[in-house]
Amino acid sequence: MNNAEALLERLNEDHALSLDEYEALIEAQTPDLAQKAAALADRARREIYGNKIYVRGLIEIGNVCRNDCYYCGIRRSNKSCDRYVLDDETILACCDEGDALGFRTFVLQSGEGCLSVARICDLVREIKRRHPACAVTLSLGEYDRADYQKMFDAGADRYLLRHETADKAHYEKLHPAALSFDRRMNCLRDLKAIGFQVGCGFMVGSPFQTARTLAKDLKFIEAFQPDMCGIGPFVPHHATPFADEPAGTIEQTCYLLSLLRLIRPNLLLPATTALGTVDPRGREKGILAGANVVMPNLSPTATRKQYDLYDNKICTGDESAQCKNCLNMRMRTIGFEIVTDRGDIKK
Ligand code: SAM
Ligand code: FES
Repeated sequence: MNNAEALLERLNEDHALSLDEYEALIEAQTPDLAQKAAALADRARREIYGNKIYVRGLIEIGNVCRNDCYYCGIRRSNKSCDRYVLDDETILACCDEGDALGFRTFVLQSGEGCLSVARICDLVREIKRRHPACAVTLSLGEYDRADYQKMFDAGADRYLLRHETADKAHYEKLHPAALSFDRRMNCLRDLKAIGFQVGCGFMVGSPFQTARTLAKDLKFIEAFQPDMCGIGPFVPHHATPFADEPAGTIEQTCYLLSLLRLIRPNLLLPATTALGTVDPRGREKGILAGANVVMPNLSPTATRKQYDLYDNKICTGDESAQCKNCLNMRMRTIGFEIVTDRGDIKK
């Protein structure tokens, strides 16, 4: 057994490594090592979740955004972005349709500042009134602790806020000065303290990322112990400052999914749409590497193309039922099964 394989075995046993060891493991990636990591991750995931895949209905409620992240297609400065915000009836109709299709979790995602906090809370209350068996996940960006508390009190169960990178200098290369690394990290701590099930995450292959910054992401996740972690390849968008940067790779994303599974065996780990964008079998490959969640799009077909985070995003033309059926079929072909379940973390 070589040194990298020994590190993998130790990660599998202890669920922890030093920062230098994570960096060495990231640098040592080869197809052979990635296969070994995937086999260990698969075993760890099956012990907890069997062959069950949890499903979340993603509703992209608006693409208006007050922020200007350099990588993001719906950033404030992108004047060619066709802006929209769904009305409440449309959002509620998406949830009704999702419930009928067997979804037991709805993820409401948008640019930041799209909806007022009062409106977010009213929506959450109404979704929970209509669908009491369903979990509501919010992914709406940064708010003060008091506002997060209001969303939690309204009935929201989970909050997804990718930390984007755990390296402050790297964070500052991906965002303008108005956005603060410390503030984002504090938001994550506030969300956890309030009692949300919390998800963090990062893009793989984002500009200026190194094995060291990725090692810091893994170390952060090891310490923070999130319930969910969203990772997907960076994909350039033509109307952003990073238009000419290369996309992240399927291979590195899958390898990192396996390492995350070993760090936290019960982690809720989606095979993301971005993974399906860089490879036609990306989501299947993500599941085989250790992911256990998929997020079909429940947004109205009319506005899907406008939620344009990166170029060539998949599933922008399909009906919700088609997306669900397509993923059902994709999971079955690799021996996994989508279940009708809220999909809470198994502790
Ligand atoms: N506004 C909310 C927030 O900031 O958390 C949620 C929406 S934001 C568009 C959701 C995630 O999309 C970001 O956290 C980022 O990681 C991802 N994203 C944005 N642009 C991307 C790109 N070009 N490639 C891949 N992922 C991207
Ligand atoms: Fe606001 Fe991307 S810059 S969601």
